[in-house]
Amino acid sequence: MFHLGLFTGCGVQSWNGMWSGEGATEWLHPQLYIDTAKAVERAGFDCIILEDAHFIPDVFRGNMDFALHNGFHAPKQDLFVMAPFMLTATEHVGILPTLTTTFHPPYLAARTLATLDHISHGRGGANLVMSHNDRTAQNYGADAQADHDARYDAGDEWVALVEALWNSWDPDALVIDRERGVYVDTAKVRPIDFSGRFYRSRGPLNSLPPPQGRPVFSQAGGSGRGRDFAAKNVDLVMTNVTGIDTMKAFRDDVVAKALAHGRKPDSCKVMFNIAPVLGETRREAEEKRQRALAAAAANVEINLGWMSYYSGIDFGKFDLDAPMPALQTNASRSTTENLREKSGGMTLREFASYPASGAVELVGTPDAVAAQMGEVMDEVGGDGFLIQQPMYREGISMITDGLAPALRRRGLIRDGYAHRQFRDNLLDF
Ligand SMILES: Cc1cc2nc3c(=O)[nH]c(=O)nc-3n(C[C@H](O)[C@H](O)[C@H](O)COP(=O)(O)O)c2cc1C
Repeated sequence: MFHLGLFTGCGVQSWNGMWSGEGATEWLHPQLYIDTAKAVERAGFDCIILEDAHFIPDVFRGNMDFALHNGFHAPKQDLFVMAPFMLTATEHVGILPTLTTTFHPPYLAARTLATLDHISHGRGGANLVMSHNDRTAQNYGADAQADHDARYDAGDEWVALVEALWNSWDPDALVIDRERGVYVDTAKVRPIDFSGRFYRSRGPLNSLPPPQGRPVFSQAGGSGRGRDFAAKNVDLVMTNVTGIDTMKAFRDDVVAKALAHGRKPDSCKVMFNIAPVLGETRREAEEKRQRALAAAAANVEINLGWMSYYSGIDFGKFDLDAPMPALQTNASRSTTENLREKSGGMTLREFASYPASGAVELVGTPDAVAAQMGEVMDEVGGDGFLIQQPMYREGISMITDGLAPALRRRGLIRDGYAHRQFRDNLLDF
């Protein structure tokens, strides 16, 4: 058996497609997120990871036109306002809003995450990012991002401090002794006086410690430093690597790094990002894929916009008919540096003509794709898949009511949840 997660967001996502419904404005209100969380839970997923960033993209062609005209990563709602609606409408699925360690003070995060974990009886979490774009830094008063590796150094300390704040209360500190008139045992709550390279905090936290002890953390850093951060600190690593050999090597590396940090190797799950194309027949699915290919080729701006977003480099300024340029960045390092390798000598125009297809290309009926996912997991020895899917009902339903039941019939995903809390279900197999 393997695990499933959904990767989606809380901004405008599908607004002018045939099946967008009222997506142009519905993303502003909770019901779409509630419906999605319920569907995903019905399907037996472990979690939903909600992507986020704190800026309007303006790298591509040096202005905001592309982002605002296309509803590309803007505008967005605040995930920590939307997540509670999803958690209180469900009973088993974990919700991981993206949280930037760079711009979210540890004390504030420790409180917010403890609260999410309490309102959901132990299903809270966060997808930790260090923020890769200078515009985010400028929105929070800095001139630019700190150096790539220094962001991860600060992230390590951030996690240590947040944990220390959760541990500033003993688990049995809340006594509720009506006879003696004692609500909390003072001896079991203490300041932490944390003083590090990047952060200081006195403590104790003024929230109760989270039911899970520590809400679940996920992360997606692909560079060596990013993987080391993940192997040290998180429960779930998600990755965009492609191809069986690379997937296997990625997982082996995360496991080796987790062992080096003194962790049990299976305490850090690796989920591979996929974007299956499903149809009632193989032909229908293939036609859909062909239509996506034709659309990407007819409008390479979409992929150029994506590449500019992650790299912080304006892909609008390169010759489209020259090979993919070699690039270095202080932003999303592995994603950017892999572009040239993945392009395999193609011109930028050719490369930008392909829609993203994830770790492996999955095109077919739900049953055929389920079989292929099983084969991939057998070969990679991995923990599961993160399905990348914009939030509109038809797209979500194909995954939750088509693909997931096909996976379940093959015994590849769970049939019900064994535990109440998110991490226990994640570590169950
Ligand atoms: C599947 C996936 C999801 C990601 N989601 C986010 C996100 O929501 N917000 C964000 O700022 N960065 C996101 N990133 C970017 C990562 O946080 C990170 O910057 C990137 O993977 C490069 O890491 P590296 O610099 O260690 O190579 C995501 C990356 C991947 C692969």
